[in-house]
Amino acid sequence: MVKVFAPGVVKLFGEHAVVYGRPALAATIDRGVYVECEKGDRLVVETVGVPASLRYFPEEKRAEALGSERFFAYIDAALRFAEELWGSLRARFTIKSDLPPGIGAATSAAVSVGVLKAYSLCAGVEVDVYSLAKLGHRVELEVQGIASPMDTAATSIGGVLKIWASPFRLERLNASLPPFYIAVLPRVGTTREIVADVKALLDRRRSAANVIEAIGSLVEEAHACLLAGDLECLGELMYMNNWLLGALGVVDGRVVTLLDMAKPFIYGGKISGAGRGGVVLLLPREGTMVERVLSSLGHVYYKVSITETGAAAV
Ligand code: PMV
Repeated sequence: MVKVFAPGVVKLFGEHAVVYGRPALAATIDRGVYVECEKGDRLVVETVGVPASLRYFPEEKRAEALGSERFFAYIDAALRFAEELWGSLRARFTIKSDLPPGIGAATSAAVSVGVLKAYSLCAGVEVDVYSLAKLGHRVELEVQGIASPMDTAATSIGGVLKIWASPFRLERLNASLPPFYIAVLPRVGTTREIVADVKALLDRRRSAANVIEAIGSLVEEAHACLLAGDLECLGELMYMNNWLLGALGVVDGRVVTLLDMAKPFIYGGKISGAGRGGVVLLLPREGTMVERVLSSLGHVYYKVSITETGAAAV
């Protein structure tokens, strides 16, 4: 049996501006998606604990998993590409996630890349991380129509990465961070809708281009602070990045309240990803107090660490 872990991804700095040619800093975390592959007599995919809502039709004694079509669309496309490249395989794939889907932590990229990696290992093929990243991106493109290469590259390669979207390029940074918190707020709108709203703002208000410019220069400063391991600097830049994202209209009142209440106990914090809820990063000074604030606000949260490797057998 083969078991692969494909890590989730947080955006440390630079989301949205990355769409307009600036670099972003992303990192893989120790929560993500597990994919097992065991050879058998037929191809079966089983998901365990992947949250889904069920609709039941008592007259027909039939249940329907809502939203599952999309989840299985990633698996379908990944299996199809894998079969084309590495030959057909009869196996049972079991997929588990320890992050909720659709929050902006790259779970769809981790599912796509995790299935590809597990398939390749089960078929006895070695695939390098850059090919895996490209294939994973093809899966996301097919399912979503448009997709940034950031998440699939990060979950394939792992570590702290500086990423340029177009033309795509990345640099692996020799940086680490102490464990931090991610709070998960219900998201209002999809990445595609939020990215479209930011584009509309940029088209409407020419001053908004300065915000993108400011995020770009902040990312360069954050890069230097990451290499130096300077938490005061990183925290302050997280706040600045967050308020600049606020100027683009993607930070809502729930995030402002959370950061305000956590302020005495953190170096800094920000949304991670497209925004309007989703993941919020909190770089803690006093972990127990941060947990108290998160619990008192009723937020789902996880304490996470940065991982050094991308999708790999475990
Ligand atoms: O929320 P997510 O994980 O889908 O991240 C979106 C990141 C953006 O920079 C806003 C969009 C992109 O394509 O890079």
